[in-house]
Amino acid sequence: MEASHLLHSGYFNPTLRSWHGSNTLLNINQLIYPVFVTDLVPDESSEEIPNFPEQRRYGVDALVDHLLPLVNKGLKTILVFGVTTSSNKASNGEYASSKDSPVRRCLPILRSKFPSLTIAVDLCLCGYTSHGHCGILKTDGTIDNPASIQRLAEVALSFVQDGAHIIAPSDMMDGRIDAIKKILILNNLASSVAVLSYSSKFASCFYGPFRDAAQSAPSAGNRRAYQLPAASTGLAIRAAERDVIEGADMLMVKPGGPFLDIIKEVKQRFPHHPLAVYQVSGEYAMLWHAARANAFELRAAVIESLIGMRRAGADILITYFTPQLLDWLKEEL
Ligand code: PBG
Ligand code: ZN
Repeated sequence: MEASHLLHSGYFNPTLRSWHGSNTLLNINQLIYPVFVTDLVPDESSEEIPNFPEQRRYGVDALVDHLLPLVNKGLKTILVFGVTTSSNKASNGEYASSKDSPVRRCLPILRSKFPSLTIAVDLCLCGYTSHGHCGILKTDGTIDNPASIQRLAEVALSFVQDGAHIIAPSDMMDGRIDAIKKILILNNLASSVAVLSYSSKFASCFYGPFRDAAQSAPSAGNRRAYQLPAASTGLAIRAAERDVIEGADMLMVKPGGPFLDIIKEVKQRFPHHPLAVYQVSGEYAMLWHAARANAFELRAAVIESLIGMRRAGADILITYFTPQLLDWLKEEL
């Protein structure tokens, strides 16, 4: 055998293996933990979510209690989703920016209780519209894009005034990054808030458990007229490029596992923008149930799936496994 054919010699112990990237590829700072804050239960309570194992919807105070030990373990960033009762939903999603909404009520509390925590807020209308679509609809049932981005920008402004550090629009309306940046500039708030665009977000069956959690499934139709077709690399790249031009601070690919090639291509084309990857609710459920059925050990499978996303080019990992990872990443990988 030629010496150049010997590979084992380069990784026969844990230290040597770490030099090949395995130990540095994942760290706690990269993680964003998605959480659901709701008015479906009293502020000090929480509830299980059907089809979404071990994730809960939290009342405002219960969310603080839930986050405290995690922040103490090093949690750096959360992504907040609001869930409200159907009586608060209307055709234009007015309640998204209500002072009384769970998201707006929790923001000042989270800011004061956790000064070192970076708070991203998901921006969309689907949790607040009676029809469950991510934008405002015209009478013919199609998206009213200009009305939608104006509403989204107003909601974004309200979140920023309450203390959000990052606005993360997941609605997939055309031109919303521009509308959000413009309203923030107009209000002299633009330099201290980042926009993390859900830039390449695909229409996916993997959002199922989330839609149970957020009670945000469309009552009629689907999201295929605004979320991207799974087969299209071209639209994924054009959407990212458009959002870069409109001023997005960070980009995203979502879901993660089935779209590793998109992660790689977006990162290659936009190397100067941090790239987030969302390991979505269905990916979470898939790993959780498979581990439950003894297909593999959960820790190993989660770490391997996230290393794959990092290798493809992810800088930021949005994952429901964040609480466990705060412990897991302290051990040797
Ligand atoms: C709503 C939104 C969805 C997710 C994040 N924001 C669902 C959807 O677009 O239908 C999915 C997140 C997940 O599945 O974990 N705009
Ligand atoms: Zn939505």
